[in-house]
Amino acid sequence: MEWFESWFDTPYYHMLYSNRDYTEAEIFITKLTQDLKLPENSCIIDLACGKGRHSVFLNKLGYQVLGLDLSQQSIEFDHQFENENLTFKVHDMRNPIDAEPVDAIFNLFTSFGYFDDEQDDKKVFDSVSNGLKSGGYFVLDYLNEEFVKNTLVPETVVHRQGIDFNITKKIEGRHVIKDIKFEHEGQSFHFFEKVKLHTLDAIKEYAENSGFERVKICGDYVLNDFTKETSPRCINLFKKK
Ligand SMILES: C[S@@+](CC[C@H](N)C(=O)[O-])C[C@H]1O[C@@H](n2cnc3c(N)ncnc32)[C@H](O)[C@@H]1O
Repeated sequence: MEWFESWFDTPYYHMLYSNRDYTEAEIFITKLTQDLKLPENSCIIDLACGKGRHSVFLNKLGYQVLGLDLSQQSIEFDHQFENENLTFKVHDMRNPIDAEPVDAIFNLFTSFGYFDDEQDDKKVFDSVSNGLKSGGYFVLDYLNEEFVKNTLVPETVVHRQGIDFNITKKIEGRHVIKDIKFEHEGQSFHFFEKVKLHTLDAIKEYAENSGFERVKICGDYVLNDFTKETSPRCINLFKKK
């Protein structure tokens, strides 16, 4: 099993990240949908939706939303939010999307860069492109390499629900690696997250090869312009030709 198939499906992943910022997510989604001028009733896929914080809010804004994620645990949790315009399904982003083409696909909060094989990255762009109407938007909210390097904290301990998560972070070659070690009920656990530092050029190439043009790069969740040295995020807005 690959790390992203197991770790995201454990209860420990959800414990560690139990303080995800819902307010920031809502501000971002509001700005993004305004910026893209997505009319109400547009169909949107939240690809790698996790526990659904963006999907649920998109649906509240009036959009028809399909949330997709590889983690069965997350999708089971998300089913509670479903209504006639909001559904969730287990799906691997490398596979073709089994739905009518939509107006926009969002991949948010560094839900890309997990695969060792470059062919898998290409498959994501291809299946997103095939899942969109022509003129549809793909938003890839990714990390900014410079910012990660400038702000990297090598060691931290995070306390959650009686567990001390010992976290070390390092850059190894072209990857950011986060090691997560902890003890629970007398057992030792060790998980890791490994995200590839894709360059802006590499991402542009994947996108163009899958039929997109890059319309904009934003640097944060209020959609300020991207600046390599200081932007916390690298949010790519692509349009399908
Ligand atoms: C960093 S989380 C972000 C979740 C969500 N977008 C958010 O902002 O709360 C990454 C998500 O990607 C999902 N994921 C990992 N590999 C995947 C794959 N191959 N296909 C679909 N989802 C995947 C994980 O299960 C996890 O929910």
